[in-house]
Amino acid sequence: NPLVITIDGPSGSGKGTVSQRIAQTLGLRLLDSGALYRLVALVATRADVALDDASALAAIALNLDISFLPAESGVKAQLAGEDVSLAIRAESIGLAASKVAAIQSVRDALLARQRAFAVEPGLVADGRDMGTAVFPAAPVKIYLTASAEERANRRYNQLKAKGESVSLPRLLEDIQARDARDMNRQVSPLKPAEDAVIIDSSQMGIDEVQDAILAIVDK
Ligand code: CDP
Repeated sequence: NPLVITIDGPSGSGKGTVSQRIAQTLGLRLLDSGALYRLVALVATRADVALDDASALAAIALNLDISFLPAESGVKAQLAGEDVSLAIRAESIGLAASKVAAIQSVRDALLARQRAFAVEPGLVADGRDMGTAVFPAAPVKIYLTASAEERANRRYNQLKAKGESVSLPRLLEDIQARDARDMNRQVSPLKPAEDAVIIDSSQMGIDEVQDAILAIVDK
């Protein structure tokens, strides 16, 4: 069966970038599960579906007409042929995604779709519950984290580099609020799988994190 490497962790831990790099280095497929929740949120928002309407949201999740195409910067998300890669990154869609992700029937509806990504030669699965719920039998499980302060700092530097004016204390508050929502929700709260290797990247660069994960895969 195909090799599955799960990489879970909180918002801003760098797992998106690292997952992309590991997939590329090893020639594996990539599942950005957060993008699926964002796509459900985007479709719901466009259709004016309330973000607590469990059955309507589950139907959206089941019927998503999406494809992920390889692009220069990772993967491009297509919704019924429309490139929505940028649209799903909007702050408002991220917030809506965290609401729809707290609904069990939405998570159930996305389960088979996520598992279908695990084909030969293998998959890097990036998310919150990849090692706990979606691929519990994965042979390599990573939980990538970093202090809230460090994650806020990284985000601050990213936004500053883009020329956006932001406040660091405000970003830290946002990250802490997001952590609290992800870790305290009733449904699939964020936590490391029992057999996950925990990597705290607070004092590590992205190359170091990549090497650490590749060393674990090689064992
Ligand atoms: O990168 P960021 O933390 O902003 O978000 P994301 O990884 O794109 O995920 C968007 C939302 O979906 C988050 O608020 C998560 O709570 C949720 N999510 C989830 O519940 N389970 C996953 N496997 C992936 C994302």
